[in-house]
Amino acid sequence: MLSETKLNVLKQISGEFSRDETIWASGYLAGLAGTPLTATLPPIHTDQPDPITTRKITLAYGTETGNSKKLATGLAGIIKKKGIQVKLADLSQYKPKDLGKEDYFFVIISTQGEGDPPVLAKKFYDYIHENEINLSNLKFGVLALGDSSYPLFCKTGEDVDYRFELLGAKRIVPLKKM
Ligand SMILES: Cc1cc2nc3c(=O)[nH]c(=O)nc-3n(C[C@H](O)[C@H](O)[C@H](O)COP(=O)(O)O)c2cc1C
Repeated sequence: MLSETKLNVLKQISGEFSRDETIWASGYLAGLAGTPLTATLPPIHTDQPDPITTRKITLAYGTETGNSKKLATGLAGIIKKKGIQVKLADLSQYKPKDLGKEDYFFVIISTQGEGDPPVLAKKFYDYIHENEINLSNLKFGVLALGDSSYPLFCKTGEDVDYRFELLGAKRIVPLKKM
């Protein structure tokens, strides 16, 4: 389970972000030491309409026991408080064909069984693995939830992260496992 303490820590960290940084980290947040926060975003020109607000950000979660959902919901709230629009999506409902329309797509997903996706996210997982969709316009980040006492720690998140890259999407934050 993801404890309240962890969630609170994440909230505190995210609360210190600028709007750009919040976008950058919206898939999963701070604490990704070593990577310049705005390095992956195009420059913002103040004499033009704020491009941040025109970007589509989706924060999707795949969960079995609710941890990923809780985390995603908390993060979405933080991002919205920054005045940034974010769409929270449950992967059990998400139409993978819509991936082609996304701009920024962040995934929080757990691993279940013996390295398996959450039951309700399996359709999404299978779709991206069985179809050669072109995701070259997609920028993404994955936060993998798991338990290191399992041999296949965070395997589903790893798989999604790797598959998105294979399908041409641009990883703008490294895979985070927790
Ligand atoms: C039956 C069961 C099997 C699990 N299998 C794995 C696993 O293979 N690898 C892993 O990293 N975590 C595994 N976990 C741990 C979960 O991924 C972890 O508890 C996670 O926080 C659950 O997130 P969720 O509530 O969003 O599904 C398993 C948990 C359960 C209850």
